[in-house]
Amino acid sequence: MLSFAPMEGIGTCYYRRVHRRLFPEGIERYYTPFLSVYPNLAFKKRDLKEITPAEGEPETDTALRKILVPQIMAKNAPEIVWAAQKLTGLGFREINLNLGCPSGTVVRKGGGAGMLADPAALERLLDAVFSDPSFIASGASLSVKTRLGIRDPEEFYDILPIFNRYPICEIILHPRVQQEQYRGTPHRDLFAWALAHTDKPLAYNGDLFTAEDIAAFREEYPQVSHLMLGRGIVSDPVLAREASGGAPLSMPELKRFVLAITEEYAGILDNDRQLLLKLKELWFYMSALLVSDEADITRLIRSLLTARDMGEYRNAVRALYAHGTLGGHFRGI
Ligand SMILES: Cc1cc2nc3c(=O)[nH]c(=O)nc-3n(C[C@H](O)[C@H](O)[C@H](O)COP(=O)(O)O)c2cc1C
Repeated sequence: MLSFAPMEGIGTCYYRRVHRRLFPEGIERYYTPFLSVYPNLAFKKRDLKEITPAEGEPETDTALRKILVPQIMAKNAPEIVWAAQKLTGLGFREINLNLGCPSGTVVRKGGGAGMLADPAALERLLDAVFSDPSFIASGASLSVKTRLGIRDPEEFYDILPIFNRYPICEIILHPRVQQEQYRGTPHRDLFAWALAHTDKPLAYNGDLFTAEDIAAFREEYPQVSHLMLGRGIVSDPVLAREASGGAPLSMPELKRFVLAITEEYAGILDNDRQLLLKLKELWFYMSALLVSDEADITRLIRSLLTARDMGEYRNAVRALYAHGTLGGHFRGI
C-alpha cells in the first residue's frame, strides 16, 4: 500500500482533490497536514476545511475523505482525547499523531519530534490517553508518525519498546532524528532493527523518490506493506501509479495538473501574491522532473522560482515547458 504523506502547506484539501481527480491510481490513503489542537482544544478554521465536506462537493471528494487519515499535532493527553472525540464524531476512525515534525518552533513547544525528547514523559502520555474513558468510548484508533529521536538514532532503542506497550494501530517511521531535519540518508539499519523488535504494523517513510527506489525497497523489505511517499510524490504526482506498474508522467499530464492546481488555488486564495507563493512551493519539487539537452535548465528553473509576479511566473513556466523534457527526478534537499 502506498500512501500520501502529511505535507503541511502542500498536501492540502485543495491539492488532494485535484491529485485524486487527475491521478486516481496508486495512492490508497492520504494523510492531512498536521491539524493543531493547541492552544485551546480547537481546530483552526483552515484546519477544519481539511476534514469537513465542502458545500456541494462532488462524489469523488466524498470518496476521497473515506481514505483520509487526519493527523494531529498535540502535546498532552487531554488534547489527544479531545481530538479523538471530535474526529470520530466527524466519521474518522484512525487518527495519526505527529511525533516527527522537526521544526524548531514546534519542538520548543514540546510538540512533534519534541515529544521524543523524554521517553518517560511519552510513556505517561500514552498511558493517560489509552486509559482515558472518553478516548476508549470514542472508538478511535491511534497511529503514530515518528522519527528515531532528537539527536542520536539509537534513542529509538528506548522509544520503540514504549510504543510496543500500547495498542497503537500502526507505527510510521521516518528513520532520521530531529536534528537531521531532511539531511543525510535515512537510517535504514534502525528501521530494520525496529521491524525485528515490534509486532505492530510498521510503515516506512523516507527518500523514496522514484519507482526504482520503491521497487528496491520492496525487494529488500517484502514484509513491509505500507510505504508512505512525501516529497517524491509532490515532485512526481504519478509516482505511485508508476510504482504500481502504470505509465510514467507525460508532459500533457504535468501541464494539466499544474493548470488544475492553479485554478483550484486561484479560487480560494485572496490574491496573486499568495497564489504565486503556493505555486512556487510546488514547483520547488516538480521542477526536478525537467531536463534539457540544449537549454540551461537550472537558469530556467531559477527564473520560475524567483518570479516576482504571476506574469513573470507564466513566462517562466512557458519557457520551462518549451525547453524542458521529462526525465529528471527529485533527489532530496
Ligand atoms: C514541506 C513539508 C511539509 C511537511 N509537513 C508534515 C506534516 O504536516 N506532518 C508530518 O508528519 N510530516 C510532515 N512532513 C514530513 C513528511 O511527511 C515526510 O515524513 C518527509 O518529507 C520524509 O518523507 P519523504 O522523504 O518521502 O519526503 C513535511 C515535510 C515537508 C518537506
